[in-house]
Amino acid sequence: MLIHSASQLLTLAGGPQRGRDLGHLGLIEDGAVLIRDEKIVATGPTAELRAAYPGEPLLDAYGCVVMPGFVDPHTHLIWGGDRAAEFEMKMSGKPYLEILAAGGGILSTVRQTRTASIEALIAQARPRLFRMFAHGTTTVEAKTGYGLQTATELRLLKALLALEDESRMDLAITFLGAHAIAPEFRDDPQGYTDLVCETMLPILRQWWETHAPERGLPFVDVFCENKAFDLAQSRQVLTRARELGFPLKIHADEFDNLGGASLAVELGAVSADHLVKTSAADIAALGRSETVAVSLPCTPFGLAEHDYTPAQAILEANGILALATDCNPGTAWNESMQFVIALACRAMKLTPAQAIAASTINSAHAIRMTDKVGSLDPGKQADLLILSVPDYRHLGYRFGTNLVRQVIKKGRVYSVDVGYYRTA
Ligand code: NIG
Ligand code: FE
Repeated sequence: MLIHSASQLLTLAGGPQRGRDLGHLGLIEDGAVLIRDEKIVATGPTAELRAAYPGEPLLDAYGCVVMPGFVDPHTHLIWGGDRAAEFEMKMSGKPYLEILAAGGGILSTVRQTRTASIEALIAQARPRLFRMFAHGTTTVEAKTGYGLQTATELRLLKALLALEDESRMDLAITFLGAHAIAPEFRDDPQGYTDLVCETMLPILRQWWETHAPERGLPFVDVFCENKAFDLAQSRQVLTRARELGFPLKIHADEFDNLGGASLAVELGAVSADHLVKTSAADIAALGRSETVAVSLPCTPFGLAEHDYTPAQAILEANGILALATDCNPGTAWNESMQFVIALACRAMKLTPAQAIAASTINSAHAIRMTDKVGSLDPGKQADLLILSVPDYRHLGYRFGTNLVRQVIKKGRVYSVDVGYYRTA
């Protein structure tokens, strides 16, 4: 199939974009993409591709932007219930970490998740995954972390594998047994940390080999934060995970600077995520590393807080910046990378081009999937979007509505739009 006549084709070709190089879209005016089976075969100007490949089935993208599907590299996709009542409390002035310390917050979702059947969990996650897809996300990272006991954490993994099987989405899976101190260990955080390291991680390793032998090992993540896991405990979890062969991620500096970003760099983590209260030394360390800095602007927005990731300092230090939704029931229930882009432009002063690169090729790098997704390079998976706008800057400029006309996943076309904007 030849998708042709796009007012702007964004290829994002050339690999992850570091520091001030962020924002190269590989823009081709009046562009075309040739797709065969599930893969991209060629990109270029419409006239050239139509001449080179006559007789292909055609899909007209006149007046539209065509670009890679979004890669959302940080979500907590699978949970039970909701926390609407807590949102009201937070807006009335009660801080997030105080609600957690009083047994609410993450622990409230843990209670609602532990008592839910696998069918109920899948049924609740399914529409989230649909909404992500309809808003243009074609690859998503998804974490466990609302079980905090071996059996429930494994149930969440099983649910995630089932959701990937039944859906069109590609999932990158992360084990976040170290998301909070389990309620049974309220007075013994070290005891829970030891349980994660000495029981859960070895069981996970074995479980994965039986249940998903064809996939690479999942990421292991830890919430490095006051009232969650301190720096020493985070080091313990990630070091043990690394010994067992797992690739690493970390939640760092969401509320306080504990040094989690530098720890991530030291241990060779694939990404360090949140990065709001990150110190200058941590930023410098990220800038010298391959650890992707994943910013989650929906989280301060969702909590009505003022501080966002110091994105400009990260770019200045030559860091690799990516964006994600952090979709979760407590701080950021949002499925749309388009909204993330709009926020990133305003709160972190990214240009639309920088935010787009941070949501495609760089976010694919944050889950180490640039061999398959994140750009329109020949040989990669045919995961792309046809947007109902003629200029890529409408992403960022516009917010709160869906600009996707069609999602193409592994070469199959799905229409999601209600009608679209044409200049002629
Ligand atoms: O990324 N920080 C920890 N985890 C989530 C919030 C989880 C929750 O509140 O349920 C986050 O913001
Ligand atoms: Fe998170």
